[in-house]
Amino acid sequence: MEVEPSLIHRLFYPQVPLVIAAKAGARASAMPVVSYLSVSEKPPIVAVACAPRGFTCKLARRARCFSLSVLGREESSTVSKLATTSGAAVKDKLAMAGLAYSDGTKLDVPVLDAALATLECRLLSAVRLGDHVLLVARVETAYARDAFREFWDYGKYRPILYAGWQGGLSQYDAS
Ligand SMILES: Cc1cc2nc3c(=O)[nH]c(=O)nc-3n(C[C@H](O)[C@H](O)[C@H](O)COP(=O)(O)O)c2cc1C
Repeated sequence: MEVEPSLIHRLFYPQVPLVIAAKAGARASAMPVVSYLSVSEKPPIVAVACAPRGFTCKLARRARCFSLSVLGREESSTVSKLATTSGAAVKDKLAMAGLAYSDGTKLDVPVLDAALATLECRLLSAVRLGDHVLLVARVETAYARDAFREFWDYGKYRPILYAGWQGGLSQYDAS
């Protein structure tokens, strides 16, 4: 079958979502993202494609920095909450979703207590491409729990394998 443009991104599923989070002034927000990539190793640069009307995207652009977090499958319902509420509707979307956080070690970004790995990212540029904005950022520091030692230990980390929004967050289950 020919795949229509609005379905093309689903050809990439299942994908492991990250959570992008930012804060500025009294506001904090976060949302799951699957449209991300590691762009460069030296220096470490990543990119995230965000809908420009999204509050988290706007906040990250205002703050000029954001965090990216890896969350395990046990946080699936939290990730769902972050996808179904707009950060514009609440003062602190992380608190609304029950996610405790502290300040970044290098940047003024939210670091989620529940994260198995965190990247603190400084925004380098925001490039409009079609209906999304590509946030290109330098990773100032990254750290992980002991589930990661050069590679992930899948005995300790069960990734979310996002398979699309089908009345809720659906996941691919190989077992
Ligand atoms: C698993 C998953 C991945 C998502 N990936 C992206 C993404 O890469 N870029 C994007 O703009 N929105 C993505 N979304 C949608 C946003 O997370 C959603 O629109 C969110 O509510 C925006 O929140 P905000 O208004 O606080 O920014 C994704 C949603 C889900 C469930």
